[in-house]
Amino acid sequence: MSSPQPVNTTYEPFSMEPEYVEANHGFVARQDLTGVKRFLDLACGTGSISELLLQQSPSAHLNGIDYDPVQVDLSAKHFTELGYTVRRGFELTDEVIAGKPVLVFGVGSADELPFPDGTFDSVTIGNAIHVLPDKERFLAAVARVLRPGGVFGFNSSFYAGTNPPGAAQHMYEWLKEASAYIERKNEKLRAEGRPPIKRVRGTRGPAFSNRWYSPQEWTEMLGRCGLRVHDSNERTVYLDERCLATVGAYGGLAEVVMSGYPVEEASEALQATAGISLRNMNIDRLPRNWLEMWATRE
Ligand SMILES: C[S@@+](CC[C@H](N)C(=O)[O-])C[C@H]1O[C@@H](n2cnc3c(N)ncnc32)[C@H](O)[C@@H]1O
Repeated sequence: MSSPQPVNTTYEPFSMEPEYVEANHGFVARQDLTGVKRFLDLACGTGSISELLLQQSPSAHLNGIDYDPVQVDLSAKHFTELGYTVRRGFELTDEVIAGKPVLVFGVGSADELPFPDGTFDSVTIGNAIHVLPDKERFLAAVARVLRPGGVFGFNSSFYAGTNPPGAAQHMYEWLKEASAYIERKNEKLRAEGRPPIKRVRGTRGPAFSNRWYSPQEWTEMLGRCGLRVHDSNERTVYLDERCLATVGAYGGLAEVVMSGYPVEEASEALQATAGISLRNMNIDRLPRNWLEMWATRE
């Protein structure tokens, strides 16, 4: 077995995959945000959604929050390269420098928002709402910081309806092949007299332990929090081998679906077996549905 290159376990590679960029673009483009003066982008990661928001309203100010300092650093670096002045923390600023609004990115939790009531015209959370432990607590925090008439949007590929018929089998194939990959690596390590890769059970909850809600359940939950859904869409995205390999390498996914393995090993195994998992199903692209919702703060 040739020794693989170290795997980049951040979200950055997947955030640049064309299929993912296109899905996020489609999500943001559904809402007219041209009049927005202040955005809040939660779980902003490396800033993919933030950038699309600012394309719609280039003079708006934007605060981003993510609890991973590595993603926040990547986001700050990216916007600095685009010519923005980027600050860290939770400041609300109206400053414009070199013709561009100052952007502020903070390390923190998406459900603890240190801002006054009614601060934002638009709040978004891209590809992350499904991981939040208490959705209603989160939505209540969002509703509080939105002004009346402001909009909240999210997209997610983890909901009841996310797997088109037959597609759910893919995860089983992928995990089977990734486990076999680690076992082959272990055989080699043992033959060399080196310690094998160990799986330590109980380090994380069971994979996908968060319940997946249907569009109707999301609509009702948003409504209970004062957020009236005015637009809902399901978008089918086709993930090819390269795209699956980059999402598999993302540590946030790898540590959940292969919980207990060292994250670098799990990421490497998922990346290496993305292609065979597709071939086992006789497909070259995996269809996956993304839910997109936009709601108005009442
Ligand atoms: C799949 S990435 C999505 C990033 C970006 N929003 C996008 O759509 O490309 C999920 C992000 O959610 C962040 N995250 C997860 N739970 C969070 C929480 N409770 N508070 C803040 N960020 C969180 C992770 O650190 C990660 O950057």
